[in-house]
This record gives sequence, C-alpha cells and structure tokens, in this order.
Amino acid sequence: MQQAKAFLTTRQEDETAYIGQLLGLIINRPLVVALDGELGAGKTVFVRGAAKGLGVEGEQVASPTFVLLKIYRGRLPVYHFDFYRLTEEDDLLELGFEEYLPGEGAAFVEWAGLMPQLLPPEYLQVILERFEDSQGEGRRIWLVPFGKNASRVLENLLGAVTWRTDGALHKQQPRDITL
Ligand SMILES: Nc1ncnc2c1ncn2[C@@H]1O[C@H](COP(=O)(O)OP(=O)(O)O)[C@@H](O)[C@H]1O
Ligand SMILES: [Mg+2]
Repeated sequence: MQQAKAFLTTRQEDETAYIGQLLGLIINRPLVVALDGELGAGKTVFVRGAAKGLGVEGEQVASPTFVLLKIYRGRLPVYHFDFYRLTEEDDLLELGFEEYLPGEGAAFVEWAGLMPQLLPPEYLQVILERFEDSQGEGRRIWLVPFGKNASRVLENLLGAVTWRTDGALHKQQPRDITL
C-alpha cells in the first residue's frame, strides 16, 4: 500500500528545519516538493533544512520571492521556487521553468497552490499550518504524496522521525539518523 497523508507537529523553527533536513537526506532522485501555507508558516525554513540535507553548503537559502527561482548545488541540484509574485502562468512558461518540474534535481516550490497547473502529476505536497494550544505556538506539517516515489520518500521520512516520551520531536545528530 502506498503511504497515505500524514502530519508532523513542530514547536520551533529548528524542528521544522530538521524535518526538512531529514527529507533532504532521503531524497536521492528527482522529486518535486510543493509547499503551501500562509506567509510566515515556515515554508522557507523547511526548504533551508532540506537544502542542508541535500548537501548544499556555504550558501544562505532565503526566500526567492523576488527572483522566482534560485538554484543551489547539492548532492542533486536544488531548485527553489517561490510562486508568490507570479501573476500569469505565461510568466513561468516563458521562463522555461517547467523543465525543472521535474528536472534533474530536487525542486521546492513555495506557494505551489497558486499555480497548480504547473505541477507534474507526481510530487510531494507539504502544507504548513500554524496553530496555537496550551503549550503555545506550533506548526502542523501535512505531508501528502502523489505517486510512488513521493510515497516512498514519505514512508522513509516518517520512519526516520523519532519522538521523546513527552511527545516532543527528538532531533538526532546527523550521524545517528538511520534512514
Ligand atoms: N515551528 C515553527 N516552524 C517554522 N517556523 C517557525 C516555527 N515557529 C515559529 N516560526 C517562525 O515562523 C517564521 C517562518 O518564516 P518562513 O519560513 O520565512 O515562512 P514562509 O516561507 O512560509 O513565509 C520564522 O520567523 C520562524 O522563526
Ligand atoms: Mg518563504
């Protein structure tokens, strides 16, 4: 059976980055990751972690809002898109971005939901949702796989996450992470 949708809960920025990092460590073939969630939800934080997991070094991964796409060199090329300011689908088609969706690497698309028609049939959807409860603020990270590869990646990701007895995320040292 394919992995169905799931969610993980984080309480801090570094925990969201850590989940992203685990995903980045797992990705070993081209994959499109479509991120959604309101401004400040943590999409860029997640992608920053994923880039680290994919071996991007020495570069500050920031929101590509004003340039639409940034490319980083990792184990696989990392394409970081932000569709927030895209108005016309044509903009993107003219720029030829569809060659990266999917391309040779890992593509992370912030605000993917604004241009759903640009997504390929197979991708991993990541929806970040802010919530508040008695413990304060947190993020629910919904993970929804479309297609076999995304399903496999999600299964591996869920298998790599560990929790403390109090329910908090257990951030392992990279050398201790078993994938
Ligand atoms: N659990 C959490 N996960 C991610 N970010 C968090 C969390 N709690 C607070 N934050 C804050 O929320 C903001 C997320 O920003 P960013 O990743 O740029 O959002 P987006 O790209 O979705 O607009 C950061 O300022 C970060 O410090
Ligand atoms: Mg952002």
